[in-house]
Amino acid sequence: MTRRLCIALLAATISTASAEELKVSDPQVGEASAIALVFMSRLKPQLQAALESGPPAEAISVCSEVAPRVAAELSEETGWSVKRVSLRPRNPGAQPDAWEREQLLVFDRTVAAGGNPGWAAAEVDGQVRFLAPQRVGGVCLLCHGESIDADTAAALKRLYPEDRAVGYKPGDVRGAISLSAARKQ
Ligand code: HEC
Repeated sequence: MTRRLCIALLAATISTASAEELKVSDPQVGEASAIALVFMSRLKPQLQAALESGPPAEAISVCSEVAPRVAAELSEETGWSVKRVSLRPRNPGAQPDAWEREQLLVFDRTVAAGGNPGWAAAEVDGQVRFLAPQRVGGVCLLCHGESIDADTAAALKRLYPEDRAVGYKPGDVRGAISLSAARKQ
């Protein structure tokens, strides 16, 4: 066996050993999926209401202020760390780590193959990790789509000069809600 192959095999063994996939029957996975749903149920009505009452540029604060606030509240209430991540983030703080990145790539591949990605869960280095994909629906296109109205685009540029979260099509994976917590024995 060549030395390089040997190192590759070793690396593969290490990565499977440190990220063990978890099933829906795992109680902490059940808890995480419920929290991800609560996150969406607190955020979506506020976004919907803001979009109904004014132009999208004015709804930006729901995403820039309410979403991080809901994530912080849920972290406080549940003891899980709750945040949002994306392969093409708008908020530079939404960069995925290695495990999140790997799962987001799997979600993208599933969509590209015509499938519907479900959540991913694993135990990584003593942490339970959970990632729920967020796909692009009609309303998301106003701020993440291919043609964004000039006022909204200008407001986004001002707040997020390094914005990479535009140009999405319906059905694309926009990002994910990411939860992590220490493994309970
Ligand atoms: C009114 C404009 C607006 C709409 C509509 C909107 N977003 Fe966003 N989105 C934003 C802004 C602004 C941010 C950055 C928030 C922050 O600073 O944390 C963001 C961030 C995100 C993030 C976090 C990752 C990142 O890129 O920073 C996800 C995931 C996301 N949006 C998904 C969606 C989905 C799914 C929809 C449709 C249900 C949607 N958004 C609709 C403006 C919008």
